[in-house]
Amino acid sequence: MDNREISQAVIGRLPRYFRYLGELKDEGIERISSQELSDIMKVTASQIRQDFNNFGGFGQQGYGYKVEYLYEEIGRILGLNKSHHLIIIGAGNLGQALANYMNFERRGFLFKGIFDKNPALYGTRIRNMRIRPMDEMETFVRESGIDIAVLTIPKTEAVAVAERLVEAGIRGIWNFAHVDLNVPEEIQVENVHLSDSLMKLTYNISRFENGEG
Ligand code: NAI
Repeated sequence: MDNREISQAVIGRLPRYFRYLGELKDEGIERISSQELSDIMKVTASQIRQDFNNFGGFGQQGYGYKVEYLYEEIGRILGLNKSHHLIIIGAGNLGQALANYMNFERRGFLFKGIFDKNPALYGTRIRNMRIRPMDEMETFVRESGIDIAVLTIPKTEAVAVAERLVEAGIRGIWNFAHVDLNVPEEIQVENVHLSDSLMKLTYNISRFENGEG
């Protein structure tokens, strides 16, 4: 199935389903109705059914969903049925924090290396990996089968580094730099701006304070 036919809003909800189903699976729960899933996730049962209908339904009417099957299928749709090799470019505060966050590996994101242009960092090791100089990047991407790069460098540097990554064969960029990258359409870019989420929070605070909540 071509996921491009599915709305981004539905795709955006899949990771949350995946997370909840993973927890249910870990608790040993084998089957769940859309109503029970709705109660846990605070999403209407009809929304859940509509979302799942995009992928053929996944369940049998009146019988509920098989938790493990649903978990595996959503994981497959999200591309999590295979592992991804990633590198981090920019070993500053954010890059190091992400590198130290081990939980990604449970989902099959294998952290393979971290790069920086600052020679003062080259002796430093993070999770037992040395911070590498940028002139090793292209060869490393090619030889280690790296498919995802995480960009945690200043925005003034990000466009040029992204071009180098594309040239080296990267497939996706998780971009934390506050700039739009100019890459070919076959390269997938996911921009992350924590401040967007914070602004949503302040919007909701002020809406509530104005009695509209
Ligand atoms: P930082 O200054 O601690 O680290 C940046 C690192 O990038 C430094 O080690 C620097 O040597 C390295 N660097 C600079 N140019 C490079 C290049 N061309 N190639 C390789 N390495 C290079 O900064 P911090 O706090 O880690 O933030 C990194 C970036 O992420 C900044 O642009 C910041 O605005 C952004 N950021 C984005 C957030 C978001 O939600 N999207 C949240 C926090 C930071």
